[in-house]
Amino acid sequence: MSKVTVVGAGNVGATCANVLAFNEVADQVVMLDVKEGVSEGKALDMMQTAQLLGFDSNIVGCTSDYAQTADSDVVVITSGIPRKPGMTREELIGVNAGIVKSVVDNILKFSPNAILVIVSNPMDTMTYLTLKATGLPKNRIIGMGGALDSSRFKCYLSKALNANANEVDGIVIGGHGDTTMIPLTRFANYKGRPVADLLDKDALAKVVADTMVGGATLTALLGTSAWYAPGAAAAYVVESIVHDQKKIVPCCVSLEGEYEQNDICIGVPVVLGKNGVEEIIDYKLNDEEKALFAKSADAVRKTNDVLKELNVL
Ligand code: LAC
Repeated sequence: MSKVTVVGAGNVGATCANVLAFNEVADQVVMLDVKEGVSEGKALDMMQTAQLLGFDSNIVGCTSDYAQTADSDVVVITSGIPRKPGMTREELIGVNAGIVKSVVDNILKFSPNAILVIVSNPMDTMTYLTLKATGLPKNRIIGMGGALDSSRFKCYLSKALNANANEVDGIVIGGHGDTTMIPLTRFANYKGRPVADLLDKDALAKVVADTMVGGATLTALLGTSAWYAPGAAAAYVVESIVHDQKKIVPCCVSLEGEYEQNDICIGVPVVLGKNGVEEIIDYKLNDEEKALFAKSADAVRKTNDVLKELNVL
């Protein structure tokens, strides 16, 4: 029996749990939240769709009762506050670092072997914090940002190409920040045809710019952070792990020399299977891409340094 816990039953966590159940990724989905009744209510609401949608997964909700999360295979951590319009993800660090650290401690008491998928922002730094604070093997700590940013990249590419998003491929590496993510246009293709052959320079530059502020655009429209794509991206990461799909997904992982980086968690393409991160794929970046990646890593590292100033690491 497979079991997945989602911590935080806000918009992103609840969407993730809903997608996990609807796609029958796990037999058992547990949602945990600190707000009395919220996860219980959302879980019951979702269970009332089981017959309508035809899924067999079981979803339960609980208020801060970590015992109910025991023996989870994968735990998705969405806890913390979302950004408001005009805020960067990095500005959330002061509040979210303490929350994420205490959630991870509690989770590991009941699921010492779980693979952790980090969604809370600033996602790269929260992933690094989890790695450092727990000392867990690096294959078990995965930030989901690249899956989300790549999906947004494919969405904007498909719009520019007037194509089906499922026929477009592209990945985003680097940090999960408005200025740190790197949509790799050179590798993006539409059914194998390089997008650079199909879109002019300006159109491609607009796709890149729109992708980078993909989250901020939604925050401005909605008044809070997005949830459908972030929740689905987390579920996509979980599915590749639980079903041992070995998909290549850009995720935030610990680098030890790969992409010329050390002591950092940042987005690179990885193979996701039952052991979590099974391989880091080397995309052989050119000099320009390497420079962008190094700059992105510097920015992520600056945010990581705040953890020390806050005494959470
Ligand atoms: C976003 C948030 C979840 O990109 O980081 O929408």
